[in-house]
Amino acid sequence: MVQGGKDYSKYFDFSGAKVIKEEEGKTTYRLKGRDITINAVPSYKDEKRRGKEEIEVHYDFAIPEEMRTFGAGKYYSITTYGCQMNEHDTEVMRGMFEAMGYTSTEDRRQADVILLNTCAIRENAEDKVFGELGHLKTLKTEKPELILGVCGCMSQEESVVSRILQKHSFVDVIFGTHNIHRLPHLLQNAMFSKEMVVEVWSKEGDIIENMPKKREGMRAWVNIMYGCDKFCTYCIVPYTRGKERSRRPEDVIAEVRELARQGFREVTLLGQNVNAYGKDFEDLDYRFGDLMADMSKIDIPRIRFTTSHPRDFDDHLIEVLAGGGNLVEHIHLPVQSGSTEVLKRMSRKYSRETFLELAAKIKKAIPNAMLTTDIIVGFPGETEEQFQDTLSLVEEVGFDSAYTFIYSPREGTPAAGMEDNVPAEVKKERLKRLNDLMAKLSRESNERMKGQIVEVLLEGESKNNTNVLSGRTRSNKLVHVEAPKEWIGQFAMVRVTEAQTWYIKAEPLEKISLQGAVS
Ligand code: SAH
Ligand code: SF4
Ligand code: F3S
Repeated sequence: MVQGGKDYSKYFDFSGAKVIKEEEGKTTYRLKGRDITINAVPSYKDEKRRGKEEIEVHYDFAIPEEMRTFGAGKYYSITTYGCQMNEHDTEVMRGMFEAMGYTSTEDRRQADVILLNTCAIRENAEDKVFGELGHLKTLKTEKPELILGVCGCMSQEESVVSRILQKHSFVDVIFGTHNIHRLPHLLQNAMFSKEMVVEVWSKEGDIIENMPKKREGMRAWVNIMYGCDKFCTYCIVPYTRGKERSRRPEDVIAEVRELARQGFREVTLLGQNVNAYGKDFEDLDYRFGDLMADMSKIDIPRIRFTTSHPRDFDDHLIEVLAGGGNLVEHIHLPVQSGSTEVLKRMSRKYSRETFLELAAKIKKAIPNAMLTTDIIVGFPGETEEQFQDTLSLVEEVGFDSAYTFIYSPREGTPAAGMEDNVPAEVKKERLKRLNDLMAKLSRESNERMKGQIVEVLLEGESKNNTNVLSGRTRSNKLVHVEAPKEWIGQFAMVRVTEAQTWYIKAEPLEKISLQGAVS
């Protein structure tokens, strides 16, 4: 046991490690010739706990004076592997890098700092990161002063930190999702000490407002809440992102107003489960429906949100969304499975029947709504019959599109301990059958739009043909239009001429000016 410092050896396989320095809460080990300073490490046990402690909001974030020119003449590069939340975290880190004087680069050979902002949701997301670390080892050997960091959801996993310490000790800094605001300090520590610095908080901290953000394009993400308390049995997110914490409504509203003022055309409100927004306020009776009602009063053309959990999708929210205006007709409503039995084992807390009722209610209130979803196939014990329940539910709801996944066991989650008797080939075959059905539904949904006149936000040139612009309808359908390049960044009315499986083609009618848009 270490005296004074903290003993971190119980968390990892530290055989062969020697303690060389101890300060309060910090211990420096020498492992295979590499010095590693540990400030904090992740623990599944602590990540699972949901405490009652109150969350404070801090408004005084600032890059330390002495670090504002720290990055002058230097370059940074961040690779993002995860969801929109993860992408938005990257925007915050980019904001901090630029506030320190760093310049962004896509060329890793030019970079002085490289960060991998990782995702832990499925095994293949993790494999990509370990593969990338293998490539970066060569770069690090050629350029020893390069600072290489791993952050995001994988850093919150005990097994990942352990593996990096043992096998990828050329990494310079590991931090998690709860201490992004510590980036300037961690960078400074790693740079000056030449040690690997590990600081991953198991417990979510307070809410930090006013961090700089570097956004690009015409669509912006805005966090409305952090964390997830749902603990679906397959999912790692409640462990990597901590307990549910909502940002104060006035802070969200002020941020969206400011984005409108800057000319952003569209805002997507982010949360792992936006329907839980406000549940944690002790002094306010203000929920997601109320927030959307306030959003509809802001002078910005489009407001989206993701992701909503079916369980708390209440009538007030449906009523507010039915009001339209800048609240668009797209609802992403992950169902995961069409079998009540499987849903029970996933701990989704709704049944096939209640989901169908909800979908019908939404469609009735918002007749032109596009419904999209997430589905997992091959959950432990899923029978052919239960899988067919998923197919029939998909058909009955008539989803317009879906993200589909093969179940991937995540260490530390309850489902990882369930007996998984579905062979890999069967899972693959189910995914294919589901994808075939989704392709058919998506095509039918696109066919139904033929001849319709719809509003699109033209985002840029299409990937495959620079003479064509691509954009999105309010319902989030991808549209290709032959329109003049000057229309990029603008709204236009178009007539749908052709349906493909994953996109539609349209002819331009006229450019329009919407409130909030700079024309
Ligand atoms: N908070 C969001 C989900 C975020 S993760 C929500 O509840 O809607 C995005 C999707 O990844 C999930 O909806 C689920 O379909 C899928 N997913 C999560 N964990 C998974 C796992 N262990 N294996 C396969 N897919 C998973
Ligand atoms: Fe994961 Fe479920 Fe939370 Fe979504 S709601 S992040 S699937 S635990
Ligand atoms: Fe991945 Fe973390 Fe998002 S696990 S999906 S990056 S919340």
